[in-house]
Amino acid sequence: MSGFPHRHLLGTQTLSASDLTTLLDLGERFLEIAERPIKKVPTLRGKTVINLFLEPSTRTRTSFEIAAKRLSADAVNISGAASSTVKGETLLDTARNLDAMSPDVVVVRHAQAGAAELLASRIRARVVNAGDGAHEHPTQALLDCSTIRKHKGRIEGLKVAICGDVAHSRVARSNIFALRALGASVRVAGPRTMLPAGVESLGVEVHHRIEPAVAGVDVVMMLRIQKERMGEGLFPNTREYARYFGLNQQRLALAKADAIVLHPGPMNRGVEIEPAIADGPRAVILDQVTRGVALRMAVLYVLAGGEAQE
Ligand code: CP
Repeated sequence: MSGFPHRHLLGTQTLSASDLTTLLDLGERFLEIAERPIKKVPTLRGKTVINLFLEPSTRTRTSFEIAAKRLSADAVNISGAASSTVKGETLLDTARNLDAMSPDVVVVRHAQAGAAELLASRIRARVVNAGDGAHEHPTQALLDCSTIRKHKGRIEGLKVAICGDVAHSRVARSNIFALRALGASVRVAGPRTMLPAGVESLGVEVHHRIEPAVAGVDVVMMLRIQKERMGEGLFPNTREYARYFGLNQQRLALAKADAIVLHPGPMNRGVEIEPAIADGPRAVILDQVTRGVALRMAVLYVLAGGEAQE
């Protein structure tokens, strides 16, 4: 038995500490496969995984494809531009047509919050949410928690600061749920225009300046500034953003001396994070990416391995 009692992975909000730990532990075991000369195991031979990405992605799409292939599943990739959605087909019709080809798992990224949940309620395949609007990005949170646990030895009791455009960040939401479930205390920081109303109700400490948020923390997680949103009046321009909210050496010096720095990517160097920090010894950003493949292998394994109970 995998010990994972869910049919789909739609978010971290509904995952218990035990569910999260099951996936983190399994991901730890799958990491080793990347070090082998032949990076493949037969675990999901004969299974089919469709990656339906209707929004751009470098890390998540590639990572799911590699994860599926390392488990010997057949991976099929569909991007927005190459799908019949450009001809006006609805997401649901697209998904139902794909489902008629009997995939075991559909991994979906879509600009609309709730897209993955909609598919999960209407198709037979297991569904993984690879990012739905500003709602959730559960596998990002899993790989972030895995990276933190590796570097800090634990998650319980850690202080984590999540800084930037929290309001539009599915990464922030999924991490808040997962980190709190695992016993971390979470602070968020951003300009008032980039913090969602009522964010306190998620159980986080809220700051409108980055300095008090990072003071004394074990982990600093910087979020991508969505440059496309600058026109919406959330912040005057990227230069101002870097000046008031960018992670620089002076601000990082306020965190614990052994604090680590995460970023989900894609990064805006010189905006939310100084290049010297992104490439420096405290950054664990590429480790996040490496762990992403192993965590996605864990997710595909518990959903397509036929062992989920629900
Ligand atoms: N972190 C993340 O989701 O990156 P991509 O958009 O490249 O998948």
